[in-house]
Amino acid sequence: MADTVTPHITVTAPVPYTPDVETIEAYEEDLTTDIKDVVMGIVGKTYADGHQPLRGIHAKSHALLSGELEVLDGLPPELAQGLFAKSARYPVILRFSTTPGDILPDSVSTPRGLAIKVIGVDGERLPDAKGATQDFVMVNGPAFSTPNGKGFLGNLKMLAATTDRVEGVKVAVSKVMQGAEKVIESFGSTSGAVRALGGEPAHHPLGETYYTQVPLRYGDYIAKLSLAPACDPLKDLTGGHIDIDHHPYAIREAMIDYFAVHGGEWELRAQLCTDIDAMPVEDASKVWPEDKSPFIPVARLHVPPQTAWSETRSAAVDDGMSFSPWHGIMAHQPLGSIMRLRKRVYEASAGFRAQHDGHTVAEPTAIPGAFRDDDGAEDGTDVFYP
Ligand code: HEM
Repeated sequence: MADTVTPHITVTAPVPYTPDVETIEAYEEDLTTDIKDVVMGIVGKTYADGHQPLRGIHAKSHALLSGELEVLDGLPPELAQGLFAKSARYPVILRFSTTPGDILPDSVSTPRGLAIKVIGVDGERLPDAKGATQDFVMVNGPAFSTPNGKGFLGNLKMLAATTDRVEGVKVAVSKVMQGAEKVIESFGSTSGAVRALGGEPAHHPLGETYYTQVPLRYGDYIAKLSLAPACDPLKDLTGGHIDIDHHPYAIREAMIDYFAVHGGEWELRAQLCTDIDAMPVEDASKVWPEDKSPFIPVARLHVPPQTAWSETRSAAVDDGMSFSPWHGIMAHQPLGSIMRLRKRVYEASAGFRAQHDGHTVAEPTAIPGAFRDDDGAEDGTDVFYP
């Protein structure tokens, strides 16, 4: 088949999306229940300890931001799909987090998460998806730690078992794991389990590149997405370290310092599946080779300087919202076993918050008032970017 030439990149003919790119196994329903039960065990423990309903995973937020997503004009037909079908600007909310389901000091260094909520998206909704939002939920690594939910359940049980342990032990374990990760990296590899237990390098979250890790439907095709820094102040942070030992909220402090002075610009990029064997849908641990299909920019994310975290923002986003790959349109249906099982687990975790302490968890229709600064400016909605 012919290739499509974009101004800079050649896109090899992508694999069309059809329902049979997924293979649903008979055991998945039970496995999902087991994983949900472990996650809800974490939620129950943290609630008993802290009397606050938290997310079962990614409980601690480091920055809660508003901004704008600009879908690029003139995309080739393969990339002008779903939300990216035509050039447009959408308000967005971003939540930066780290993985544990309990609120640990940042010296326990774990993978960085980024959840993006795009507001006001038209299109047929995914099953049970309320409102008119499209979420993209990402982590700072190109693939998931295990091929499917079976391996993940083992890792999760190990993490759940540490939920009650005293913080001092976790800090010590984290230091050992950070050393172990350095050794593993020096052999040219990384370990998802070591990172999850506190072995993540203490990189600044704003210098990182984030990935959906697992695929989603991209209109007529299949893709993974990633978000990469696209302005000098962010790029300057890539590979830079935060002194995570000086303060339990060192990462939040660094995010607040950054956005007090700078804005941020990122590229949202799509990697189309062009070879279903080399870029499988059902093996979540497989990094799709970029030499076969590169990540190509489809949108730009603009975030103006603002107060990166506040109690009011936390009430609006940590307590009042949930992010899930299943919040969105059919054109971006989450694909593969890990994506399928996330639906029920995210619903249960967010449902607990909705049922406790009078919280309402809902899809926003606009940037909430909590994002208005004292001067009355609504960050991210009133700033024009050329
Ligand atoms: C079996 C696989 C997974 C399970 C069971 C799982 C479970 C969860 C749960 C229960 C939450 C909290 C939801 C809430 O209470 O609102 C969550 C949040 C999150 N997950 Fe996952 N997850 C999985 C895979 C992934 C993957 C593949 C990524 C990204 C590549 C990811 C990134 C995140 C992020 C960034 C958040 C925080 C969302 C927010 O800011 O609200 N997860 N996950």
